[in-house]
Amino acid sequence: MAEHIRGVPLAYISHGAGTPVVLLHAFPLNARMWSPQVEAVAEGHRLVTPDYPGFGRSPHPPAQPDVRYYAACVGGLLDRLELGRVVLGGLSMGGYVAFECLRLFPERVSGLILANTRPDPDPGEAREARKEMAWRVGEEGIGVLIELQMQRLLSPTTLEKDPRTVEEVKAMILESSPDGVVAALGAMRERSDSTPLLPEINVPTLVIGGEDDSISTPEVMGAMAEKIPGARHVTLPGAGHLSNLENPDGFNTALGEFLARL
Ligand code: MLT
Repeated sequence: MAEHIRGVPLAYISHGAGTPVVLLHAFPLNARMWSPQVEAVAEGHRLVTPDYPGFGRSPHPPAQPDVRYYAACVGGLLDRLELGRVVLGGLSMGGYVAFECLRLFPERVSGLILANTRPDPDPGEAREARKEMAWRVGEEGIGVLIELQMQRLLSPTTLEKDPRTVEEVKAMILESSPDGVVAALGAMRERSDSTPLLPEINVPTLVIGGEDDSISTPEVMGAMAEKIPGARHVTLPGAGHLSNLENPDGFNTALGEFLARL
């Protein structure tokens, strides 16, 4: 069921009933990227997946939000839905937002899923690349992201052998607004270092990524998992940066086992 709540600038999709599980999407996609997880999670859980401002069906963001703004929007959605404590997960940019949620309202997080993400801030060259990408989106339109992002997001196996996933990812990218994309690039570029937060995480945590992810490599994910007390680390074969879409069976098995143990 897709919905929109007045006063909270996030459209969201909700499936099932039970323990709430909130999954935050990657850049530059939207809540639909979690479609392969619906059946795996919805049994005994309520799966809630928001679109960030300017993505999917959410309205445009204010001039230049920071990552904390996206986290505050997630907090506002939890308030409006009257969700006290939730299992919170995020993939890539979703992980950056999840770290901010942990800073803003740690008491509301009962379990954590960090997928294809990293705790450190952008190094200098990545910051420059984000500026360049924002300029190109502003000048050339959203379509330029197909050229700039597809090779980063998907593994060579997916690009070659899974045309359906390739087309779904392209379609989601094209649903994003240039304003939303430029705002998210600025927010990610200025994000703070979440490495000091890792040893303080005191809820069950699943760290999950793809063996062919060149943005959040298995080494980056492994180092992050080692710093989180008791975290479980899973690396999925055949998957790049969008591991939940590229290896949905592996992702769902790990997610299902994690949720069953909470
Ligand atoms: C994402 O998938 O959310 C982005 O690739 C994150 C990033 O560029 O750092």
